[in-house]
Amino acid sequence: MTKIAAITGAASGIGRGTAKRLLDEGWSVVVLDRDREGLETLCKDFTVYGDRLAALDCDVSSVESVVGAFQLLGRRFGRLNGLVCSAGVLRIGALEAMSVEDFDQLFAVNVRGLWLSAREAMPLLKLAGAEGELARIVFLASISGIRHKIDSDAYAATKSAVIALTKVMAVECAPYRVLVNAVAPATVDTPMVRPHLKPGSNTRYRTSGASPLGRIAQPEDVAAVIAFLMSENAGYVSGTVIPVDAGTVAAYVPPS
Ligand SMILES: NC(=O)c1ccc[n+]([C@@H]2O[C@H](COP(=O)([O-])OP(=O)(O)OC[C@H]3O[C@@H](n4cnc5c(N)ncnc54)[C@H](O)[C@@H]3O)[C@@H](O)[C@H]2O)c1
Repeated sequence: MTKIAAITGAASGIGRGTAKRLLDEGWSVVVLDRDREGLETLCKDFTVYGDRLAALDCDVSSVESVVGAFQLLGRRFGRLNGLVCSAGVLRIGALEAMSVEDFDQLFAVNVRGLWLSAREAMPLLKLAGAEGELARIVFLASISGIRHKIDSDAYAATKSAVIALTKVMAVECAPYRVLVNAVAPATVDTPMVRPHLKPGSNTRYRTSGASPLGRIAQPEDVAAVIAFLMSENAGYVSGTVIPVDAGTVAAYVPPS
């Protein structure tokens, strides 16, 4: 039976890379995003996957939108083997430079949206788990939720919250054979951070440190780890947060 995954924030970056990776591994994938144009482009680029790919307009900051999307998913597929929550936003600024609107937006998407997606997907994942099928959740945390950095206190707080949700949900959902994990990437080359990385860009974004491998991550680097967590190989892995940072925060590098 084909495995079915839903991926939020799949129109761009890591979500899009994960959709491709799972499609290449034979999954059926439902891509969800609030960016309709991005979804249309993805569907055009991925026609080779035929009817194993479906797109759904979904704004994870809206309760109605998320509830409606997962009801539709339930009616169409009856169950779900995997959920990847990649929808996210980044707002940069020190305490006094951050607006209340930006703070609220960060939590509405990165925390409440992710929690809501998991809540609405859970009955469908439990059905798969009860049948002995794969039932997996992978959240996008961030290395900045583990080692926080200046100028992104609110973003870091959202990612620490994602880590807390991962651990508690993993234990709560284990009896239903739903495994819950997170990945914590350092800087990844996606539209979220690309404008900040351009030489001469006048923003306060900083990476979490120099990558010991000498390059920042590509979405494919993160998608590969997510695909592992979604696979049979990770059948005894739950409640973990896997850094995908090439060792960036593994050891302090003193200034020379
Ligand atoms: N790029 C990085 O350096 C990096 C590092 C660590 C963690 N992350 C996390 O990885 C995830 C994916 O980020 P990315 O780098 O691929 O960014 P991205 O901007 O390329 O993709 C994010 C996607 O989320 C969608 N999205 C935003 N708000 C939404 C909403 N309310 N409802 C539905 N979709 C929404 C966007 O439309 C976009 O398609 C995020 O959670 C981000 O915080 C990114």
